[in-house]
Amino acid sequence: MSEKNLQVLLRRRPVGEPVADDFEIVETAVPSPGPGEVLVRARFLSLDPYMRGRMSDAKSYSKPVELGAVMEGMTVGEVVASNHPDFKAGDTVMGGYGWQRFCAVEAARLRKVDPAEAPLSANLGVLGMPGLTAWYGLEEIGEPKAGETVVISAASGAVGQVAGQIAKARGARVIGIAGGAAKCAFVKDELGFDACLDHRGDLDAQLDAACPEGIDVYWENVGGHVQEAVFPRFRDFGRMVMCGMIAQYNQAPGADAKGAPAGPNLGPVVRKRLRIQGFIVSDKGWQLYPQFRAEVLGLMKSKKLVWKEDVVQGLPNAPEAFIGLLKGKNFGKLVIAID
Ligand SMILES: NC(=O)c1ccc[n+]([C@@H]2O[C@H](COP(=O)([O-])OP(=O)(O)OC[C@H]3O[C@@H](n4cnc5c(N)ncnc54)[C@H](OP(=O)(O)O)[C@@H]3O)[C@@H](O)[C@H]2O)c1
Repeated sequence: MSEKNLQVLLRRRPVGEPVADDFEIVETAVPSPGPGEVLVRARFLSLDPYMRGRMSDAKSYSKPVELGAVMEGMTVGEVVASNHPDFKAGDTVMGGYGWQRFCAVEAARLRKVDPAEAPLSANLGVLGMPGLTAWYGLEEIGEPKAGETVVISAASGAVGQVAGQIAKARGARVIGIAGGAAKCAFVKDELGFDACLDHRGDLDAQLDAACPEGIDVYWENVGGHVQEAVFPRFRDFGRMVMCGMIAQYNQAPGADAKGAPAGPNLGPVVRKRLRIQGFIVSDKGWQLYPQFRAEVLGLMKSKKLVWKEDVVQGLPNAPEAFIGLLKGKNFGKLVIAID
């Protein structure tokens, strides 16, 4: 093959905010698939907040990316060559095969998708890991009921936009929180949330006005000052879905004592009988993928669920786009169009 592979490697572990020099972009030979492997050409790469964790060697639920290794990430693309009977050239597949154009990957790490069902890149967002996260977290922990008030932080983002629309489809009153007027207008007018509050303004006053009876379910994507404002407003028996706290991902380990955003006083957990639960989508979520995909495709087809992507062109632009994601520069699910 005359074509070259293009890869983004982790050059060094960032301290605080990642910078472009923490990554290295290299051209290499296209790999040959080994026995039972499939050669995939990636068309789109998903950029997600969890990748900041993989750049660090602090103890976590998953192993870090080794220095000099390809950055981890989900892609969607097509099979170029296959040494496995379940896959043939031309199949559309999604899987975790990193920030690179080509990858030879074990067949077990791939999932076939039907390209007629949705645009290719949607398999990384609304029909991918972030959409599954939203659906799974609501099924397992949030359990929104008709008439309840659900608050979703990072509401215009990959997880937030799906979580809010599913909660709405289940009859809840859904209030988003996002950064800036454009994102808030999108969340209210296009996603159909009942309101969207700008966390750059006076969030306490906006929450008082939007949730006069308090909050039943809070979907936590952000942490920091947003969590601090939401937390005292829980109603009895509220549920807090601890999905992520992106505002804290660039903090050095052990920085909690100085420089970390203040956390809420957790005393009301007892008094109000709150349920706060963290989860990782890979716990059980992927086992439920067919159920999730069927429900969300149904909502998409009946126009009850819309989605927004932020598509950045070119794999070499992935590091800058990822650095921006950790500062709220993306508007919608961030994906890289590889070529
Ligand atoms: N538990 C799991 O299995 C799981 C799976 C997937 C994702 N997650 C978590 O879900 C959350 C959302 O992920 P996503 O993929 O949907 O990302 P996203 O919302 O598409 O993008 C991140 C958004 O977070 C907000 N943000 C970024 N930096 C911030 C900061 N310093 N302070 C406040 N807000 C900030 C920005 O929105 P605004 O401009 O609106 O503030 C930004 O657009 C993350 O915490 C992620 O780690 C967890």
